[in-house]
Amino acid sequence: RAVLVLNGPNLSRLGTREPDVYGAETLEDLAAMCRKAGAELGLDVDVRQTDDEAELVGWLHEAADKRLPVVLNPAAFTHYSYALRDAIAQRTAPLIEVHISNPAAREEFRHTSVVAAVATGTIAGFGLRSYELALRAVADLTA
Ligand code: DQA
Repeated sequence: RAVLVLNGPNLSRLGTREPDVYGAETLEDLAAMCRKAGAELGLDVDVRQTDDEAELVGWLHEAADKRLPVVLNPAAFTHYSYALRDAIAQRTAPLIEVHISNPAAREEFRHTSVVAAVATGTIAGFGLRSYELALRAVADLTA
């Protein structure tokens, strides 16, 4: 079963970016962990990252057309991108919103997610484990 793991802006900077908030592991470490966790769950995981809203919207259209499940960390787009929200609303397969940190415990502007209401569910605050838990949810939902 193919699954897209999509990452939004600044997540290429994992490892050097605010390590006290996001940890010491890199995007490559995250990708390797997702592929391994996915393989154990029978999922073929394709990990991507972009800083570009248009590219992320395009990947969500691809997921909608192919009915692919998605694990999505929209990063800062979470808090204001109605374009992302509308792209997510078009798909039928499960889409799990993930966050490394717990946005509810941080600045006020992070308390709003404009995508949460159109996601299947949200997992936040478990570091890179958030992705593993989301992949488990995808495996359960698509079993
Ligand atoms: C994040 C939380 C967002 O508020 C932030 O803009 C990010 C990362 C997370 O994974 O914790 O870039 O999505």
